[in-house]
Amino acid sequence: MTTRIIGTGSYVPEQIVTNNDLAQIVETSDQWVRSRTGIGERRIATVEGTSQMAARAARRALEQAKVEPEAIDLILLGTSTPDYCFPSGACEIQGMIGAVNAVCYDISAACSGFVFALNTAHAFISSGIYKTALVIGSDVISKLIDWTDRSTCVLFGDGAGAVVVTADVKGIMGIHMRSDGKKGQVLTCGARTNGNFLLGKKPELGYMSMEGQEVFKFAVKRVPECIGQLLEETKVSAEAVRYFIIHQANYRIIESIAKRFKVDLEKFPVNMEFYGNTSSGSVPLLLDEMNRAGRLSRGDKVVLSGFGAGLTWGATLLEW
Ligand code: ACO
Repeated sequence: MTTRIIGTGSYVPEQIVTNNDLAQIVETSDQWVRSRTGIGERRIATVEGTSQMAARAARRALEQAKVEPEAIDLILLGTSTPDYCFPSGACEIQGMIGAVNAVCYDISAACSGFVFALNTAHAFISSGIYKTALVIGSDVISKLIDWTDRSTCVLFGDGAGAVVVTADVKGIMGIHMRSDGKKGQVLTCGARTNGNFLLGKKPELGYMSMEGQEVFKFAVKRVPECIGQLLEETKVSAEAVRYFIIHQANYRIIESIAKRFKVDLEKFPVNMEFYGNTSSGSVPLLLDEMNRAGRLSRGDKVVLSGFGAGLTWGATLLEW
């Protein structure tokens, strides 16, 4: 038995913020951001929290899968922006959608969060422990951003995507995941600092900081390496893959990965122009868009791949 995706859903906040809007608050331009990243605009949450966005995406995925919330055994939420330290976002989502029989927890792997969560659900399902799961990536990354830092604030947006997966004879063909904790400082966001009565100060909150070029180099080396290994393990050629759905951080990263595999760029769909980097939301958001646009046919081989802070990176090969 393996794991098949039987429904997808997504949600983005209504508020659109363009590059020109950001040029009003930091020294940047539409031309700079588009040419360096492929990003034109992003959505920013003003009322929704991470779990609310996730629950909306999840409801759409359940509706498409024609699965009742009570039939869900497991909810995994990939996020690095939970609304609370506890309870987990996944538990909140359970309450919102009425998935009363599910066990629920979050997975913290930054922009790899959705792919890591999907692969974890696959481990449970393929081993027979659970049958049906809801896997979600949702991030309100805008709340971690220093809006005076032009090198990071132009890159990100808020969004969520979800899939319903269940045990089936076809679906996930292989998974691959890696981490490198020694490189953690190239992309980081402080949690609360120590603060207590002994120190005589209150805890303070941190913001995201990133060494952009280091992250770029990491992504263009490790992502193709990881996908290459996965294809080798599953004996599937890059030509046989219909789509590579890669974390939407930067168009130039995607171009570079496509070049490594010597396959047409058409196999690498993108939507970062409209949403920016939505962290854990990015892969399932794009997957849902493609699914609803009728671009995926039964039997298509699809690679999903995420990379991000940790450092973490991983991929899933599946047959649609
Ligand atoms: N507008 C205008 N100028 C800018 C901006 C901006 N928004 N941001 C930086 N610059 C300036 C810099 O200050 C620098 O100026 P200087 O030469 O006078 O010092 C110049 O542009 C070049 O800066 P670089 O950092 O060298 O630009 P680069 O071409 O590397 O592009 C970028 C930066 C887009 C961040 C790129 O490095 C990148 O995409 N890296 C990967 C980032 C990424 O994928 N992050 C997400 C990881 S996923 C996760 O887990 C969150």
